[in-house]
Amino acid sequence: MLHKVDLKFKSSACIIHDVGVTENYNIILDYPQKFGIERPILGKRFIEFDRDAKSRIGVMPRFGDEESILWFNVKNHCTYHLINCFEDDDKVIVRGCKLLDTIITTPDDKIERSEWYRRAYIQHDESSQDYDPSKDGVLFSRPYEWRLNLKTHRVEEGYLIENGVAMDFPVINNQFTGIKNKYSYTQVADSIASSTIGMFKYKMFAKLYFDEHDEEINGNIKVEYHVMDDNHFCSGIEFVKKQDAIDEDDGWVVCYVHDENKNQSKVYIIDAKNFSKEPVAKLKLPQRVPYGYHGIYLYK
Ligand SMILES: [Fe+2]
Repeated sequence: MLHKVDLKFKSSACIIHDVGVTENYNIILDYPQKFGIERPILGKRFIEFDRDAKSRIGVMPRFGDEESILWFNVKNHCTYHLINCFEDDDKVIVRGCKLLDTIITTPDDKIERSEWYRRAYIQHDESSQDYDPSKDGVLFSRPYEWRLNLKTHRVEEGYLIENGVAMDFPVINNQFTGIKNKYSYTQVADSIASSTIGMFKYKMFAKLYFDEHDEEINGNIKVEYHVMDDNHFCSGIEFVKKQDAIDEDDGWVVCYVHDENKNQSKVYIIDAKNFSKEPVAKLKLPQRVPYGYHGIYLYK
């Protein structure tokens, strides 16, 4: 370990699931996802997101301390996974898949929880009479961007893609971690299936083109999809770059896929440059791989 500091948060214990880096800074997401062993005794959930509290993003010089962090107040959120962070002149750009509540379940009343899940995973019509922003669509995760100006201390923030599609577990070509990148790859949620079982299920893949914009959708970035057959679900996405890679997307998207019709698990290998085409390989596995979360590809 090269550097260790106490950030001395004033609030009670919070969970930080991911941190970002740029060429010169560490990026710290501080959002009010509280936890503590004393909380159940006080009648509170062990883990809970406080939607009335404040979220902030800290930009800390690589070997700085709590005094050197520049904090930016941002709209409240509960983002678990960053896509990438990089510097752009006076700004630090932070991209992640934004959530509005915690995905970590807590031992609470089961009936209340199932009702909560039913509403949380599906994007709701905000103009409808029964729309409740504390429940509806709070786990409908979408790529989001924060633009933090180090000189003016101003923040610009907003979603990067159209409404209607939820996605998470973003991966990139790791050669571009901390510097400007053009692409990311995500798992696209099956919102109905997720809502039914109370945990995320992912039914296809998306490739995000940060530098290309879809004029028809108010300038949101271009998204290309890799669609799978019905009742196929994926987990553990990873990007594997080619050894002789020249372009950022010279590589493969690798992921576990399970066919629930045949109870057959496979590994899909998708050419990132021909993303919507059939996978270049589907490797049958001898047994089912349970749905999980993150994946990692190890070179032998
Ligand atoms: Fe995670």
